[in-house]
Amino acid sequence: MDEQSRPSSLHTMGQQQDRRSWAEPYKIKVVEPLYMTTREQREKALAEAGYNTFLLHSRDVYIDLLTDSGTNAMSDRQWAGMMVGDEAYAGSENFYHLERTVKECYGYEYLVPTHQGRGAENILSSVKITPGDHVPGNMYFTTTRYHQEANGATFHDIIVDEAHDTSSLAEFKGNVDLDKLRCLIDEVGADKIPYVCVAATVNMAGGQPISMANMRAVRELTAEHGIAIYLDATRAVENALFIQEREEGYADKPIAEILKEFCSYSDGATMSGKKDPLVNIGGWLSTNDREVFEEARNMVVVYEGLHTYGGMAGRDMEAMAIGIRESLDDSYMKSRVGQVRYLGMLLEQWGIPFVKPVGGHGIFLDARGFYPHLDQEEFPAQMLAAQLYLESGVRAMERGIVSAGRDAVTSENHKPRLELVRLTIPRRVYTQAHMDVVAESVKECWDHRASVKGLEMVYEPRYLRFFQARFEPKV
Ligand code: F0G
Repeated sequence: MDEQSRPSSLHTMGQQQDRRSWAEPYKIKVVEPLYMTTREQREKALAEAGYNTFLLHSRDVYIDLLTDSGTNAMSDRQWAGMMVGDEAYAGSENFYHLERTVKECYGYEYLVPTHQGRGAENILSSVKITPGDHVPGNMYFTTTRYHQEANGATFHDIIVDEAHDTSSLAEFKGNVDLDKLRCLIDEVGADKIPYVCVAATVNMAGGQPISMANMRAVRELTAEHGIAIYLDATRAVENALFIQEREEGYADKPIAEILKEFCSYSDGATMSGKKDPLVNIGGWLSTNDREVFEEARNMVVVYEGLHTYGGMAGRDMEAMAIGIRESLDDSYMKSRVGQVRYLGMLLEQWGIPFVKPVGGHGIFLDARGFYPHLDQEEFPAQMLAAQLYLESGVRAMERGIVSAGRDAVTSENHKPRLELVRLTIPRRVYTQAHMDVVAESVKECWDHRASVKGLEMVYEPRYLRFFQARFEPKV
């Protein structure tokens, strides 16, 4: 809007040119009611769910910050796109639209669609890994590491040390520690490393970004040894915003351009379409390596579906193609991360401990800071997520010892330094007023922290236990 056509009320508010606050670059067209529950109802629901927020019924939840995965609100353009779904078994028009979009926006040559991110991880891991291999990554993600280990690889965390420190204010806590990577290459040999798995942003570290300079350096180092890089591009557009804001030389570049440069330092990517691409389901594996592509395209028909739908309906692929373009709008991405920062700002005022700087997709509360009196094996983060639900009906997720699981060889619990509760913000779903309510709910838990006791795990599934484990409060 040019100066002259701006509404005069904005002029009188003196906000027209260098407005400090942001607002969502969209308005609401369809709404879905929320229901509040009583404390009594929540006590019952939580006990029935074994103190695991994954096992709650959604109808018993007031504000749902369990995840930003598949919880996005689609735009009117995406819903319109659903109507042009081409549900042909083979050669759906929507597949070619998605393929073109991924090539133009992320830069990869070949695309294999999958039902969601872990479908792509499964295929990549089985195509690339030989038992006895080693896969380095900038911190683990649960499903990603699962597939690497299930295919016989040992995972190595090569993230910078600051990532494990909730109080470090480093700007790129998702960076790869090049010395750690170099040491691993020396120790096991390049031929035992099928690829380096680089995530942008790093979910388990609190949505922390990796810098362009670091990505470039990882590329240079791995190129010397002929090692490939596969990006977990699930939240790479969010990562691009941090580069634009924090890294010299990128302030004037659009997010779309930054993303493309970033991806150019990798050989391919796995994607959960349920995050950045603004849809409710879907994913893909992309690569520039013709051989990997041929094999992946062959495997997809065994696990997912034909190579032109991979578990998605035609309409899902269309919505994702449109969503990818929308995610690259700079003003949208600023408001998306701006909302997360707003929640962080509120909590900061009360001195509530959480991972800083605020990352891309959520606030990660530091459960050790809430409950210093609990041992890590009394599951402080699991308990904090339960308490938050009990206080207010707000649903969050444990990201600590339960999520970390057990060592594949020794069966001992992994004991991560980070014992966190993630308040994950769905995209385009909640308003600033919801964030106010969430902040007040967390404050209630903070005020009552001293009397909280730990949990005991009474049921532990073998794989990815955090989804279905059950707990009872200690007496
Ligand atoms: N990689 C990252 C970084 C993720 O955050 C996720 C999912 C995946 C891969 C797997 O993708 O769910 O589509 O199979 N994260 C969700 C979360 C589950 O809540 O953080 P998926």
